Amino acid sequence: MITKNYEKTLQTLAKHNQQHLLTFWNELDESSKEKLLEQIEQIDFDSLDSKIQEYVKNPAPTKLPSKIEPAPVYPAIPQTPEHKEKFTKAKKLGELLLSQGKVAAFVVAGGQGTRLGFDGPKGDYRISPIKNKSLFQIFAEGIKAAGQKYGFQPHWYIMTSPLNDEPTRQIFKSNNFYGLREQNIFFFQQGTEVNYSMDGKILLADKDTLATSPDGHGGSLKALYKSGAIEQMKKIGIEHISYFQVDNPLINIFDPIFIGLHAIDNAEMSSKYLTKCEPLEKVGNFCLADGKVTVIEYSDLPDELAYRKNPDGSLVFALGSIAIHIISRTFVERLNARGFALPYHKAVKKIPFVDTTSGKIVKPEKPNGIKLETFVFDALPLAKESIILETIRSEEFAPVKNADGADSPAVTKRMMTRRAAKWIETAGIKVPKKADGSIDCEIEISSLFALSAEDIAAKYLNLKIEPGQKLYLE
Ligand code: UTP
Repeated sequence: MITKNYEKTLQTLAKHNQQHLLTFWNELDESSKEKLLEQIEQIDFDSLDSKIQEYVKNPAPTKLPSKIEPAPVYPAIPQTPEHKEKFTKAKKLGELLLSQGKVAAFVVAGGQGTRLGFDGPKGDYRISPIKNKSLFQIFAEGIKAAGQKYGFQPHWYIMTSPLNDEPTRQIFKSNNFYGLREQNIFFFQQGTEVNYSMDGKILLADKDTLATSPDGHGGSLKALYKSGAIEQMKKIGIEHISYFQVDNPLINIFDPIFIGLHAIDNAEMSSKYLTKCEPLEKVGNFCLADGKVTVIEYSDLPDELAYRKNPDGSLVFALGSIAIHIISRTFVERLNARGFALPYHKAVKKIPFVDTTSGKIVKPEKPNGIKLETFVFDALPLAKESIILETIRSEEFAPVKNADGADSPAVTKRMMTRRAAKWIETAGIKVPKKADGSIDCEIEISSLFALSAEDIAAKYLNLKIEPGQKLYLE
């Protein structure tokens, strides 16, 4: 049987110029042979050649839409009477949807976090400035606090990858699910994509194993469906999914205004944006492309557009994408029911592989291969309606990406302290400052103490903070 399968598989592979995958067949034992054949069976051969041609070998930049315009947005603070009225309604509706348990938290945590260089799932990285809490713990407290505030039992969906699924589940178990109900947490794995050499050959990670990597955060839209998460959401009445990344401890997971605006405008997928610091900041750009809300990557936005200014000197394309979305459950159902494909993005990486001539595993020192990923924001143009709401960087965005420099733990911790200080000051409490204006104390606020500056103001605290003090509020 296995010999017959071998022959059939070899023929198929040969048709697609990938027969090297069976180079070591005769060296493998039965179970390794089966394992290898199973992996090869997972490849979608119908689309393989065109995928390699279009995304692996093609050096041409992404094709840009013919018409790119600025996208309409809601500001963080409503300015017009119409917007003020709409925001008031949105807040009420958002709070109602939350209290009815119709909104779930969803973190994408399947990434490899290579830039940070942390050994283990990134969500276990300890980041809070005083208590050294992990990202997962910070999110869990935010989720629990929102449940207490709005009176619902929050559900949390966590996407992992085959590479970090088991350790992620273990971390939650050993932390007693951070005080959340275990049955309200749903782990599921995203898909993978095979890796390629520069000339389009699928790489072997071992003699019986294809080289694969997670299929990008865009894979979440398929994985939510395939895993049964969407079906479960439908059963328990969840209508909206609050999507966020594992690296941003400032995330406001359940923002009633954002949820409410999304619902009032019948949006299928909505986003938060922040104003870019500079024309070439490395974030995606929200635009209207051929009439549809679309994110154009910083590397794809032509300089002429990136630098274009309004008469008041502001950038025309200033809307940075920060991976904060509300996604309607029915949108994910609709996409999956009729089938959909997001475009691939190519990343040139160092990928260990088995040299089919020597049979040795090579750990390259320079990038040698290609990983293909899909991005969740590429689903925006597929949405019938999509709103974009401004958020303020210091309030909601401090991702931990790199070991040093920009977006490093040091920067994130500083931003966490600054936000806490600002919230305290808004509530009328004096924060000690140094002569240069920087904060002369450390402050950490647990979400279980306050989810916003208003929550702190409502407590009428009578606090005196001394210079150099470490203040933790929980
Ligand atoms: P990043 O783009 O920062 O990628 O992911 P990464 O893999 O975590 O880090 P690097 O590039 O290797 O340093 C943004 C978010 O998307 C998730 C990540 O876990 C993070 O929350 N993600 C990324 C997935 O869930 N799956 C993926 O395949 C890729």
